[in-house]
Amino acid sequence: MAQLKPFPEQDAALPVEFGSLLQFSDNPIDCMKRLQTRFGDLAVLQEGEQKLTFVFSPELNRQVLSNGELFQSQFFAVRGNRKSSQRRVTSGLLSQNGEEHRNSRRALKDVFALKALPAYHDIICNLSEQLVVSWKNRDEIDLNAEMVQFMLRMTSALLFGVDDAEFAEQLGQRIDTWTQHNHQVGMGAMVSDPRFAGAYQNLLLEAEQLEKSIRELFARHRRRSNDGRNILSLLLNTSGKQSPLSDDALIGHATLLFAAAHLTTAHTFSWTVFLLAQHPQVMRALKQELEHNVAGLRPEFAETDRLPLLDAVIRESMRILPASAYSQRITSDFTTLENVRLPPGSPVIFSQFITHHRNDLYRDADQFQPERWSQISPSPYTYLPFGAGPRMCIGAPLAMSEIRTALIIMLKHFSFGVQPGTMINGDVISTMLGPASPIRTRLLPAEEIADTVPVSGNIHSLVKLPSEANSSGSVSGRAAA
Ligand code: HEM
Repeated sequence: MAQLKPFPEQDAALPVEFGSLLQFSDNPIDCMKRLQTRFGDLAVLQEGEQKLTFVFSPELNRQVLSNGELFQSQFFAVRGNRKSSQRRVTSGLLSQNGEEHRNSRRALKDVFALKALPAYHDIICNLSEQLVVSWKNRDEIDLNAEMVQFMLRMTSALLFGVDDAEFAEQLGQRIDTWTQHNHQVGMGAMVSDPRFAGAYQNLLLEAEQLEKSIRELFARHRRRSNDGRNILSLLLNTSGKQSPLSDDALIGHATLLFAAAHLTTAHTFSWTVFLLAQHPQVMRALKQELEHNVAGLRPEFAETDRLPLLDAVIRESMRILPASAYSQRITSDFTTLENVRLPPGSPVIFSQFITHHRNDLYRDADQFQPERWSQISPSPYTYLPFGAGPRMCIGAPLAMSEIRTALIIMLKHFSFGVQPGTMINGDVISTMLGPASPIRTRLLPAEEIADTVPVSGNIHSLVKLPSEANSSGSVSGRAAA
């Protein structure tokens, strides 16, 4: 990548690297790793007048994430005009700040609260059971493709009470394409990039199609006799009272909820099953925990909450391969972070991936060691797979419940092994770290434990797998917590 010349007025002591911002959008993790190795906790990537500021330490994460007035959120940089579909579909929680954001969080809070979770348990179990039934008589699956489809159905059913696989898949594809185009046209929430101006009209057309699909989802939802066990019913308050949210307001929330919920959770499933399949000792210990603590093939809601190793496995998977690899804020006023001065409108990026991989915060940070969770209790800004502060993921309890429950059902029916030689690549698309190529996964009888197998691909730059760790004398042979 060609390096641009520093501006003469630039203070040499500042942690600034001059270069194309595209190196960040092309490969966010490599770019952030390099900046963190070079500068430490804080770094700035500058191209011409445009700067991206990166924070990599728990203390700087805290300064940025706890101050929602100064470090504001913006869903996407390109909002369209006031009457456009683009404006409506981007108007969910992540585009709101201050009082408006607090009011929306209040309106949405109850349906995502811990006490609401038992109401969703049956839907999660039913869809997980349908998934394992569809695997009967199959030897191999593409794990991520299965998990994405599964989560599209799950999200559509939980959020909108619509269990229609085909419709869910179409809507999911529409949202994913639209999200990716937002990132191309506007580098996500950060800078609106004139190099992609030609794609702007297409983005507006895609937003119109997306809005149509979401409205169709509302219509389908209203045609069904809803039992109130889905989030839209609860928000529309089907008990007869007027909903506090208009359809236009719901368009933004529904788009964001669907977009935020399905791929993050699907990627978390894929990474967790992949890591378990490559760590036979952890898989064995987890199977034992499930055998002793979950009586049937279908867990009771209360049983899902009493499984410390399962929790440690999920936490560790979300530490080492966080589905949300980074996120960003925009400054609303003049401020400083350490010795870097930021004018209003400056994009600031924090990264779960980089924070979670710091060896000074986590011993052998690149290794999957669920047992570490019996000894550590990191601060909310040291471990933040769901973000932290006033806009921490509102769906985190629901996501954890989905992941726990579906993993139990999957592991009660099957065991998993990766096909030897499979290429495993992780790629960040629209802030999310997910598998970028098929994870060829063998479906084995539940009692069988697969061996670690050699795999290729850039996964080796993201996590140290047992075959590599063995050579440095760790991971293999350790008992799980
Ligand atoms: C494993 C799954 C998930 C992960 C890793 C995840 C991650 C995150 C993260 C990191 C944020 C904060 C972003 C920021 O600070 O800029 C966030 C926010 C959000 N998430 Fe999740 N999420 C997951 C599942 C869900 C689910 C299931 C839902 C809803 C059904 C959801 C809805 C939201 C919403 C609405 C926000 C915006 C909150 C706000 O701005 O106040 N997420 N999520």
